[in-house]
Amino acid sequence: MTGSSKYTVRNQDTGKEFQLESRPGTVGPDVVDIRNLFTGQGLFTYDPGFGSTAGCESKITYIDGDAGVLMYRGYPVEQLAGHSSFIEVAYLLLYGELPNKAQLAEFDRTIRMHTMLNESVLRFFDGFHYDAHPMAMVAGVVGSMAAFYHDTTNIADARHRDIFAHRIIAKIPTIAAAAYKHSLGQPFIYPRNDLNYCSNLLHMFYAVPAERYDVDPLAAEALDLLFILHADHEQNCSTSTVRLAGSSGANPYSAISAGIAALWGPAHGGANEAVLDMLEEIGDVKHIPKYLARAKDKNDSFRLMGFGHRVYKNYDPRASIIRETCHKVLTRMGGNQPLFELALRLEEIALKDEYFVEKKLYPNVDFYSGIIYRALGIPKSMFTVMFAIARTVGWCAHWREMITDPDGRIGRPRQLYTGATRRDYVAIEKRG
Ligand code: CMC
Repeated sequence: MTGSSKYTVRNQDTGKEFQLESRPGTVGPDVVDIRNLFTGQGLFTYDPGFGSTAGCESKITYIDGDAGVLMYRGYPVEQLAGHSSFIEVAYLLLYGELPNKAQLAEFDRTIRMHTMLNESVLRFFDGFHYDAHPMAMVAGVVGSMAAFYHDTTNIADARHRDIFAHRIIAKIPTIAAAAYKHSLGQPFIYPRNDLNYCSNLLHMFYAVPAERYDVDPLAAEALDLLFILHADHEQNCSTSTVRLAGSSGANPYSAISAGIAALWGPAHGGANEAVLDMLEEIGDVKHIPKYLARAKDKNDSFRLMGFGHRVYKNYDPRASIIRETCHKVLTRMGGNQPLFELALRLEEIALKDEYFVEKKLYPNVDFYSGIIYRALGIPKSMFTVMFAIARTVGWCAHWREMITDPDGRIGRPRQLYTGATRRDYVAIEKRG
């Protein structure tokens, strides 16, 4: 950590000067504190897409996009992926430290105790068409939860905030499974608290009342790994949405629902579904050059899905781990090997292409995750839901941090107005 620095800003036209001060983080770039820029100088800053703006102070996740580093609470994601579990990572993200054995056992027990849904919530699914996108169902049902769980909506009460986090982390797999079963027209399968988080999820997805279903431990293990990698990613679009929606004092279920809605976009979590569509459309290695040419063509809206990232200008560390897991899962479970081979070739060819090299476009987390989901038997329309289940942990951690931040205020960005200046109303008969 370096100390703060002072910057002098000078208006070249008027000669007027003012000072700004930077604040250091523990690691990563300093931030220039501009909180008093408008009250002091009558100026706003302009940063569409927030590429240079720190919207908050956070202690949860750190990314170095140039070095391809991702750390949760200081722990490199590779170490967590190699040694931890999703439930342990959830504890770490929420509470800041790795749990001891007793803390982990208690946290795990608490999450298992909250997996069931109020039966009235379950009946919501009957109101959706069989072909409703699961993300629409999940966002809607999560948004309605404040109507059922009033005892966790007093955001000023630390106990309420804790129960809320446990409840939503425990129930989001149940909601996802209900959406999936609804789309299949199959009966809902109740959660089983004797199973761990990912085994329970797979059981709710694939079991039917007519016969016994045993979860494949490798499938549960692969899912647990994917969930660790997706659990948090600092101030991404959906997390910033959760923070912004929550900053008004809205109940936390609504804030999470807003995050789910933001995640659905193809530039964000919806990319995993779009990658599979794209690979299926490319179909064969011989068509790769045609699609790369389209991705590079400014007049074509086609982009190489699963490539590029706002922060990573190097290989996304999550993508390397997922690529390795693809090998393991496909070898063992016999998934769509040709699709994986096509993805590997696409990556290889793109990474030698001047356009992708120059723009530092590397595979991101979504490039390979869909191939594993496909091997686990999860349909494309559920891919982004799987992402949402894992990211719920990160959303909760950020929402809790935002609510207790002494500097916290309602999020309310300003704008550069370029519309019409004042003009008078013209009666309709006098308009041209
Ligand atoms: N294919 C072709 N060109 C690309 C791609 C791509 N996938 N991504 C970026 N570019 C080009 C883009 O056209 C632009 O070129 P130029 O400077 O000539 O205008 C340049 O690279 C910079 O792109 P940008 O859109 O300004 O970058 P951004 O930081 O605003 O967008 C992104 C980041 C992830 C939205 C973008 O790379 C993209 O659309 N990728 C495909 C969708 C995707 O895989 N999204 C998942 C992101 S990771 C998981 C998550 O966030 O949930």
